[in-house]
Amino acid sequence: MKRVFSGVQPTGNIHLGNYLGALRQFVELQEDHECIYCIVDEHAITVPQDPKELKQHILDVAALYLAVGVDPRKSIVFVQSQVSGHAELGWILNCASNTGELYRMTQFKSKSQGKESVGTGLLTYPVLMAADILLYDTDIVPVGNDQKQHIELTRDLAIRVNHFYGKDTFVVPEGRFMKEGARIMALDDPTSKMSKSATNVHSRISLLDDNNKIKKSIMKATTDSDGVVRFDVENKPGISNLLTIYSVLSGTPIADLEKQYEGQGYGNFKKDLVEVTVEALTPIRDRFNEIRQSPELIEVLKDGAERADAIAQVTMKRVRNAFGLGL
Ligand code: AQP
Repeated sequence: MKRVFSGVQPTGNIHLGNYLGALRQFVELQEDHECIYCIVDEHAITVPQDPKELKQHILDVAALYLAVGVDPRKSIVFVQSQVSGHAELGWILNCASNTGELYRMTQFKSKSQGKESVGTGLLTYPVLMAADILLYDTDIVPVGNDQKQHIELTRDLAIRVNHFYGKDTFVVPEGRFMKEGARIMALDDPTSKMSKSATNVHSRISLLDDNNKIKKSIMKATTDSDGVVRFDVENKPGISNLLTIYSVLSGTPIADLEKQYEGQGYGNFKKDLVEVTVEALTPIRDRFNEIRQSPELIEVLKDGAERADAIAQVTMKRVRNAFGLGL
């Protein structure tokens, strides 16, 4: 069986972008792959976090994994900081990377733009992400489109290390991206991706939003003035983004939605999208409320960390040996 690894940062509640771009794949892949899903808390601290809030967000994200259908009997679910191999391999890979390739990362460029100095973690976290993936001899990494460049870096690092330290040091992984939903855009600005850390709460729909908030965010979503429901990312990014969300959540092809709403403007379309979204998210919210209260959640994460650590230790032994570290 091929091995799958992916993770989400506990920087807030999972939103529709995370769900449609990544988590849907987590659930699909666990049927016929060996899946390892992580809550990447060490990534979250690349920007300052309130420690109490971070702890809550870790459990929220874990409960949301299970609420959307990740099954701990089929997949390993754990918290990154509970397996020390991530930080150790992160350091080793830092020494195999160079600053030039890290400065070229578009996420670093956009987050550091206009600032004289930013946290070092913002520059080096793609290397930690490479460590997360390579630690488990991962074959497939299900992620959204925004991670394409980081997956390429991971592959480059794996190939480089294999070249210098032995071809069997790392498995070279592949990214896996959805055809529809790989990049859900912000509702208030369809030229930026939907993100947990954006300040405007109406830029995103979180999986735990109540029905009123969902309605408000969708009705406020930025569209254009011509009122034609047509998929055209370049000229009509707002309505195209909403069409994608509608299509993926309802299973209706975009072309059918375009026909259905021909000549109706955006009002009816948005109202129906509110309904479709509420229908999709209500059962997830209900399951979340059950799971989040249950003491079993911690047990799942402890058990997951033990199983992940057993795999990680085998890799670390091989990597230390390849690099000549230790006795
Ligand atoms: N808008 C998106 N559309 C599709 N997939 C997305 N992902 C993130 N945003 C979208 C995918 O979700 C997984 C987890 O990513 P993350 O934890 O980095 O999510 P985020 O919402 O980008 O979180 P932050 O904390 O708000 O991060 P930044 O600092 O990047 O803005 C990944 O598979 C990602 O591709």
